[in-house]
Amino acid sequence: MKKIPIPEEKIYELSKKYPTPFYIYDEKGIIDSLKSLQNAFNWCNYKEYFAVKATPTPYILRKLKENNCGMDCSSMTELILSERVGAVGENILFTSNNTPMEEYKKALELKAIINFDDINHIQKLKRLYSLPEIGSIRYTPEKAYGTGIIGNPKEAKFGVPYNRLIEGYELLKQEGIKKFGLHAMIISNTLDINIIARNTELIFEAALKISKKLNINFSFIDIGGGFGIPYHPQEKEINLEELSIRIKDLYFEYFIKNNMKPRIFTENGRYITGPHGYLITKVLYIKESYKIYAGVDANMSSLMRPAIYGAYHHISVLGKSKTKKVRKYDVVGSLCENNDKFAINRELPELEEEDILIIHDVGAHGHSMGFNYNGKLRPAEFIYDGKEFKMIRRAETIDDYFSTIQGGDIYV
Ligand SMILES: Cc1ncc(COP(=O)(O)O)c(C=O)c1O
Repeated sequence: MKKIPIPEEKIYELSKKYPTPFYIYDEKGIIDSLKSLQNAFNWCNYKEYFAVKATPTPYILRKLKENNCGMDCSSMTELILSERVGAVGENILFTSNNTPMEEYKKALELKAIINFDDINHIQKLKRLYSLPEIGSIRYTPEKAYGTGIIGNPKEAKFGVPYNRLIEGYELLKQEGIKKFGLHAMIISNTLDINIIARNTELIFEAALKISKKLNINFSFIDIGGGFGIPYHPQEKEINLEELSIRIKDLYFEYFIKNNMKPRIFTENGRYITGPHGYLITKVLYIKESYKIYAGVDANMSSLMRPAIYGAYHHISVLGKSKTKKVRKYDVVGSLCENNDKFAINRELPELEEEDILIIHDVGAHGHSMGFNYNGKLRPAEFIYDGKEFKMIRRAETIDDYFSTIQGGDIYV
């Protein structure tokens, strides 16, 4: 995963042309990250399905699709987005939970691969519509390794334990299904390849046991997403080659030795787009109170990871990388919430009003998690193609905000 910095003068020019805050993405970085995954796992008829929820921006989805990437969807809108960028059939995975039946119906229409989150869904879908050609169920092992954001599997609302898997595949067999898949999504933002490999082994182990017990063959094993990225400058990126070797050994042990050759799927989001997105925001005020606050024009409504996960996002200041004088700041937005902070006690070059801050590694689960609290509007998105910026989503306007309102005697 190579990160190529976007030239500062280009960002500066853009900030003069368009109001901040806005997101920028580096197209080449995104495609290179996809290719590094595809190259590392090229030994197992591998396919990466990009987790659409991470960056549901059609320009980016289309570029990924053009580079042989599938789409991993979890809602009706994400299915439609994938359809509109031209992905259909086995290029779409549908991995959802607590899933409304009409969303399954849409997935069936698109001939997407469906990962069932529960066995009851299989029966209900059969009653209401029909079953897909491939039967795949989401597995949540009782004990997993280092599961971070997903937490204790026993408290996870996603997927089913092993005994329910057995019931599920038996049911699918009785219904005449001949092709099977197994899905799990256990890790989240994991940089440790031991943890990724050990959790992968849990999935492979279950697949082998089910195959032997029910005499079925898996066409694919989807080991989920969750490969981490180094948000903090001191963190090291995943060694993909080493991870690939670890998984290849497990593949040999569990499948090749047993005359099986399932495809391996992943559904990473963050690994592909995360490092290649930046939130550009301007300092509005410096406020000296019990601490020093740098108030910026972005809010947690445009990037909520620091507020909800305490996530670290690196911040640099346009044109001040060589500034010697530093101070400690809380970098804050203007929401009426005290956790509306992008950084706490962060050492930064001494700031002034109008300085442009670059918040790093926001390409995944950044813009897409945005919301409208306090009537704040979602920012625009731009792609950098190595030469120029192109707008790929305009900023929301006040008219957009009002467009869904009915009644209430609003005078325009
Ligand atoms: C089912 C599923 N697949 C894939 C992902 C992508 O995770 P990441 O972007 O960390 O790779 C998520 C994240 O929420 C998920 O819930």
